[in-house]
Amino acid sequence: MDAFMEFKFGNLKIIFGPGAKSSIKKVLSGVQGIRPVILTDRNLRETNAFKSFTDGLVNDGIAFEVFSDIQSDPSETQVYEAKIFALNHQCDSVIAFGGGSILDSAKCVAFAMSNDIDLMDLSNKKSPALGSVYQKRKPLICVPTTSGTGSEMNSYAVIKQASTHMKMTLIHEDLLADYAIEDPKLTLDLPLNITGQTSIDALTHCIEGYVSTKFTGNNLFVKALAIEGISTIIPALEAIIDNPRSLDLRTDLLWGSLLGGIVLQYGSGLTHGIANTIGSYYNAPHGYVISKLLVDVLTFNRTIASEKFMVIAESLAIQGKDENETIDRFIDRIKKVIARFNFASLTKIGLTETDFPKIIETSLADKCTKYNPRKVEPKDIDVILDHLIQEKI
Ligand SMILES: [Fe+2]
Repeated sequence: MDAFMEFKFGNLKIIFGPGAKSSIKKVLSGVQGIRPVILTDRNLRETNAFKSFTDGLVNDGIAFEVFSDIQSDPSETQVYEAKIFALNHQCDSVIAFGGGSILDSAKCVAFAMSNDIDLMDLSNKKSPALGSVYQKRKPLICVPTTSGTGSEMNSYAVIKQASTHMKMTLIHEDLLADYAIEDPKLTLDLPLNITGQTSIDALTHCIEGYVSTKFTGNNLFVKALAIEGISTIIPALEAIIDNPRSLDLRTDLLWGSLLGGIVLQYGSGLTHGIANTIGSYYNAPHGYVISKLLVDVLTFNRTIASEKFMVIAESLAIQGKDENETIDRFIDRIKKVIARFNFASLTKIGLTETDFPKIIETSLADKCTKYNPRKVEPKDIDVILDHLIQEKI
């Protein structure tokens, strides 16, 4: 029997659990959506998950349009194309069906359908473009199909600036959706490598949010969510390699991703600072780059973040003869689970020593790096990158 729970986070209503997708009719009527546009990508459009979701809409008698030209790491140009498609088809609401790129695009499409502004202005909270002319965005429902970004839980959207190819973080309270429908059944067919990359990204959101300097250490709310996320994701990730169609494990990973999406609002760190840069330069999937960097950044931060690493280790029942050995074992456990996915070396996407200076400069300027618990010098990033290009596989 399907069982799901409903709760609120700010203005966002969440329906979580196996079978949650069946609530779409009720959700659409709750936001007065009569003719939604579904935003997705071409690969997802061919999946059983997409078919089962849209069959549900057809059975419920809901008319909808599909825009499936969203690509990974979209620019604002794609968002505008989707907006024009939606307006031309008289759509009155937006359903995001996909991973982080699609969720972030859909947030911006719902926003842009009501506001004729340059979306890049949202990368600056003080933009005059958001004055009295601002109109409430169109109704927005997020249906994540990966357990990674947790983007459905926050009011951020990462969109590539077409003119510079740099990833920009857009921020506005209206980029938070009306509903998140979180159904782990939609993630059952996700390939293992994508499962690994996206879930390690979610794990990193929990760890970096917890240890970042933006979170001062006495926020028990953040700590509770981060520790729950970390101690849920790691065992599930270890187990799913041998049992990829386990609905219980898929539910755990989706839960961890949801929690990570909240925690990252309280800070991030150097893993994301470098990954945002490498992802932009080489057009590489975010979760993959995060997976390659996480262990090196944990090692870099281990002395300054030892107290919080010990809390995390305790939540995972990891214990050594002293603090040093306990943290060794914690980092080693993460290293081992990442290694099991056999992600290719960053040299395979083109990372070379020649590019180090520009990567270091951009990574240092990234907002996430600013909140890393240990102060970062150019040579520190150089050491990490140098270590990563030694890996040839
Ligand atoms: Fe991330």
